Amino acid sequence: MHSQRSSEESVDDDTTSNTSNSSVEEQVQEGESDAESLADVLENLVISQKKSLPKVKDKLDQIIQQILEGEIKNIICMCGAGISVGAGIPDFRSPGTGLYSKLEKYNLTHPEAIFEIDYFRSNPHPFYLLSKELYPGLYTPTKTHYFMKLLHDKGLLLRCYTQNIDSLEHVAGLPKDTVIAAHGNFDTSYCIDCKADHDVAYVKEAIMSQNPCRCVKTKGCEGLVKPGIVFFGESLPERFWSSIPKDFKAADLLIVMGSSLVVQPFASLIDKPREETPRILINREIVGETHPDLRRMGYRRGFDFSNDVDSNDIALLGDCDDMIVDLCSKLGWSSDLQDLMKQA
Ligand SMILES: NC(=O)c1ccc[n+]([C@@H]2O[C@H](COP(=O)([O-])OP(=O)(O)OC[C@H]3O[C@@H](n4cnc5c(N)ncnc54)[C@H](O)[C@@H]3O)[C@@H](O)[C@H]2O)c1
Ligand SMILES: [Zn+2]
Repeated sequence: MHSQRSSEESVDDDTTSNTSNSSVEEQVQEGESDAESLADVLENLVISQKKSLPKVKDKLDQIIQQILEGEIKNIICMCGAGISVGAGIPDFRSPGTGLYSKLEKYNLTHPEAIFEIDYFRSNPHPFYLLSKELYPGLYTPTKTHYFMKLLHDKGLLLRCYTQNIDSLEHVAGLPKDTVIAAHGNFDTSYCIDCKADHDVAYVKEAIMSQNPCRCVKTKGCEGLVKPGIVFFGESLPERFWSSIPKDFKAADLLIVMGSSLVVQPFASLIDKPREETPRILINREIVGETHPDLRRMGYRRGFDFSNDVDSNDIALLGDCDDMIVDLCSKLGWSSDLQDLMKQA
């Protein structure tokens, strides 16, 4: 049985930039340790980043051309909490603003506890509080959500795999069959003991009043009832697993947006497309890279942003809504995106 787990197996810092590490190292060895030499090193770092930009631009231009000429027509989007930050919903791991840095508010012993079934059984209140804050209906989709609707309208969206539980993909107008809510959402609810499905309205009322509700379906069962959000250790929806092989085989572009890519098995989806399929990461930071030594050992493919020759991976770093505006402008879709948002 496949279940969700948080693997904080972060990428080594030295693999997370497009810069040439050796030239910087040489500078450090050769240079003095005073502030001036540090400034030189930093300046060269910036210059080498700038030098690598045209290559990213070339790859991106090529993808844009392939989309416009109909060569790329099956796009998979993979989304994380970062795409909803612009809507006012905090993500988990952004330092300072993410939910994990506000633990005292939820009175948790450790961040992941909010999604652990044993913790929920002993104290459902933090998850009920989070559920009230995230409950669909309170937020408006972002440009990034509407971009996916635009891809769908243009017949280009093969599937949206989302980790998000806020259902903003649906609010933006994506039909249910185009979205796979890998970590569930508030559309279903069930008893954690007998597993019986419960009326969503019953659980919504409990969430809004912050009074965790109990099983009313099985005689003698007093299990807590929770929305169908996938907790750590719980199985992901069957549709997630059954859709992966066909979808990722057919994909001719993968766009990953607003995720730290640390929650498994979702994060490993980036390895599923065919080897030649281009992958674009749109995020505030580099994520999902595999250390070159591990890649050499065949450990897993991961992203490879440091290889300008063989790799089809591109990182567009910044706020995803800004990146989407740029992308739409390059595609000549700016007014389409604006029209879509006006109609909403
Ligand atoms: N909106 C939601 O539904 C919501 C909110 C919080 C957490 N979650 C849950 O968090 C879990 C996993 O984590 P995750 O990887 O989705 O989130 P995460 O918090 O671990 O990572 C978010 C990533 O997005 C980046 N980011 C933040 N704001 C951004 C922006 N405006 N533009 C571009 N990038 C931005 C961050 O740098 C980070 O790398 C998921 O299981 C999800 O269910 C969901
Ligand atoms: Zn029950």
